[in-house]
Amino acid sequence: MANTILVTGGAGFIGSNFILQWLEAEQGGVVNVDKLTYAGNPENLRDADPARHLLVQGDIGDTDLVSCLLAEHRPVAVLNFAAESHVDRSIHGPADFIETNVLSTFRLLESVRAYWLELEPEARTAFRFLHVSTDEVFGSLGPEDPAFSESTPYAPNSPYSASKAASDHLVRAWHHTYGLPVLTTNCSNNYGPFQFPEKLIPLMILNALEGRPLPVYGDGLNVRDWLYVGDHCAAIRRVLKDGRTGETYNIGGCNEQKNIDVVNLVCALLDELSPRSDGRSYREQITFVKDRPGHDRRYAIDARKMESEFGWRPAETFASGLRKTLQWYLSHPDWVNNIKNGTYREWVRQNYAERN
Ligand code: NAD
Ligand code: DAU
Repeated sequence: MANTILVTGGAGFIGSNFILQWLEAEQGGVVNVDKLTYAGNPENLRDADPARHLLVQGDIGDTDLVSCLLAEHRPVAVLNFAAESHVDRSIHGPADFIETNVLSTFRLLESVRAYWLELEPEARTAFRFLHVSTDEVFGSLGPEDPAFSESTPYAPNSPYSASKAASDHLVRAWHHTYGLPVLTTNCSNNYGPFQFPEKLIPLMILNALEGRPLPVYGDGLNVRDWLYVGDHCAAIRRVLKDGRTGETYNIGGCNEQKNIDVVNLVCALLDELSPRSDGRSYREQITFVKDRPGHDRRYAIDARKMESEFGWRPAETFASGLRKTLQWYLSHPDWVNNIKNGTYREWVRQNYAERN
């Protein structure tokens, strides 16, 4: 199919939202290579038109597989969402993060470089490799520090952010040394449909509805900059279309929130949309638990480059995006129940038992 893109990690949270939005807004096909780890869920793509979307189970580090897919489908761009993405898991077991985020990204870059070198001159000029990364590579901010800009030095603090920083450096080097036409985006905390309930917002929604404690780490005053996932996906489409190769783009919600305020807001919305049977507030379930080791205190993104170059701004407010998100989880009990399998339960036991 003409104008095909290859997406990696497209069965995960952001990747699946991206593919659904892409199929709605753009032309052409999508080849989606996903290892289908615990975080990858083909159900997220149930509404993707099978005539335009092909899901292939595989590892981005499998050079033979990726090279075959590139040769067969001739994509005009590769978008790399595939990663191990959860900070707490990286603390419990960093090896998978080094394997996928560093080594497999390196192998992917090499497969893509070989493909790109064989393209006809016009196609080679038009080709793009877009790497989806995080604001966590910049480390932690003090209360009065300016937000992270594209020139903020890297200072990753967790095994997750260190592995993502390493992948960003590889992508940068493949541009600088080999001329691969790369784009990198560094985004703040996403929330929205299809997010695996190990992350703060969906974990709080599910625990609240099950009558379980809402575990807030430390004093609950850590700050994150929250962005609705659809806004992140729209920003990525824009960078892919108009971004300057070799550049990095910071994407954020201009929406700094303390964790405890986020949890209170989730509770207030649930009190309205799905009240507890005893008439009391979900807030009563909030419990402060042992902190995350090395917990970054504050993230904030300065997204002025996205705004000045592309006029991009988030379309959702936190109130509208959070309401949509809660409504989605409340109206998809099958998706939620399918997630709560043995792997999920084992993770919850491992991460939370020791915090109480
Ligand atoms: P996710 O954990 O929900 O999804 C990751 C996907 O990658 C899963 O489908 C998984 O099966 C797949 N995957 C893992 N290892 C793979 C491998 N070796 N080969 C192929 N597929 C593999 O993550 P997410 O939240 O959707 O994040 C997507 C990307 O965006 C990641 O690179 C992450 O670092 C970045 N990011 C996430 C956020 C956020 O708030 N979630 C914010 C900024 C950036
Ligand atoms: O900033 C972008 C990053 O945001 C992404 O790169 C990561 O992939 C994504 O997981 C996210 O990282 P965080 O560590 O910020 O997200 P998480 O949802 O795990 O936690 C958000 C905040 O909430 C953080 O300060 C820790 C806290 N927290 C989290 C959980 C899971 C709690 O207080 N209790 C919890 O149970």
